[in-house]
Amino acid sequence: MRSYKFEEFTSTIERNIIEGIFKPGHKLPSIRELKEQYKTSTSTIQNGYEHLIIKGLVQSIPKSGYYVSNKLTRPQQSKQTKNTPVIRDAVFENNLNLITSINPGSKLSEFNVAAPGSLIIPQKLLLRTMQQVIRAQGVGLLKYYPSNGSPSLREHISIKAATYQTAINPAELIITDGALQALYIALASVCTAGDIIAIESPCVFSVLEVIRVLKLRVIEIPIDCYTGLDIAYLKKACSGNPIKAILVTPNFQNPTGILLTDIQKKELLQIAQHYNIAIIENDIYGDLNFSGYRPSTIKSFDESGMVITYSSYSKTLSPGIRLGWLSTGKFFQQAEQIKFSLGSTVSPIYQETVNKLIQTGSYDRHVHKLRMQLAKNAYHTLNLLSTSYPDDTIVFSPAGGYNIWAKLSDRIDINTFYNECEHIGVRFTPGHTFSFSNTYSRFFRIVFADQLSPKRIEALKQLGQMLK
Ligand SMILES: Cc1ncc(COP(=O)(O)O)c(C=O)c1O
Repeated sequence: MRSYKFEEFTSTIERNIIEGIFKPGHKLPSIRELKEQYKTSTSTIQNGYEHLIIKGLVQSIPKSGYYVSNKLTRPQQSKQTKNTPVIRDAVFENNLNLITSINPGSKLSEFNVAAPGSLIIPQKLLLRTMQQVIRAQGVGLLKYYPSNGSPSLREHISIKAATYQTAINPAELIITDGALQALYIALASVCTAGDIIAIESPCVFSVLEVIRVLKLRVIEIPIDCYTGLDIAYLKKACSGNPIKAILVTPNFQNPTGILLTDIQKKELLQIAQHYNIAIIENDIYGDLNFSGYRPSTIKSFDESGMVITYSSYSKTLSPGIRLGWLSTGKFFQQAEQIKFSLGSTVSPIYQETVNKLIQTGSYDRHVHKLRMQLAKNAYHTLNLLSTSYPDDTIVFSPAGGYNIWAKLSDRIDINTFYNECEHIGVRFTPGHTFSFSNTYSRFFRIVFADQLSPKRIEALKQLGQMLK
């Protein structure tokens, strides 16, 4: 087929217009720019643009330049039909929609996203601290930081962990892009595809997805919503299977809000040590106790190095900060290599901001207020559920964290329930997303990490009336 010289550049522009990447009104490169880029003559570029104008894709505006036509004569193909095959596991896609806010400006009352609401994020504190850090450190923040993270930040995280009796050596601490990346590194350090791990059941969807991506097999250990992880079941599972790691959230587990006692933590550790199994401990909600002391960690009882603990500031400060950490224990070398392969370092601005907040005590003061606020939210939400919902709805009261786990009575049709939620504009996280075995279809999770505005209260009440 004969081709014209100008097609070298027109084909790229044409493809971008057809795929909707260049929208109507988008200003296209000038003749001079294209001449330089393609090392060709003015007339070739002009011919090319004329060709696109004839095709109805481009319009020329005198003294201004070339633009994507506002009256595209051919229908635009969707991005996904050409060049970009988007193949997604339907289960993943469906669950992703259910647990994340689809539309940030949504009019829905969302109780499904485990993230601090806009009024709960300490915006002023974060922005002010960021500005101070930028002013003080300038260009230093625009360079590579050590792959494992700022030494000073690692030291301050260790000092802070010591206040809840958790001994972390800063040299085995790695700063990560949030808790989920820390989990990925931890699992990949201990296991390879096909290995078996023990996980809590129910377990949050994002954690299940990391397990799925790493192609691990799981044994689901049930959680009793009143007494915690079924330790006897875990023992049996460990004695009969080559389990490589036990993945647990001992403090305010998501979604049950359960807090394991120190005795349970020690029992769990004993089992793991007996069978030489690593423990991967998620402490993301550990700072968010509603009463009493900040709970201990399993790591605080361990001397073997077989306990890996991770956390992040997504729940206590803001998820956009993308800053977490991983205390790697014995698995430092593997973890360090995996972290490096995932992209050198977390943004220095975020690292220095969090470092300053911890050092100055601002983090502790903020968390103190946040815990009170969350405890109030939890109390009001539980109150609403117990007064507005049918008596046979079972609601589990959390000891800390963000989440309430609830079970609908057998007489309520689940599909009708979710249809009604959609109709009223309330969104919860459906229980079936919390296991691979679809055990929790009658359950749902309510996140209370946002202000209970009159509109949100009304939506919850309305749903309760409907159920009654
Ligand atoms: C148990 C658990 N792990 C990990 C995450 C994700 O945390 P991050 O945003 O720090 O990656 C969440 C929050 O959704 C969570 O609840």
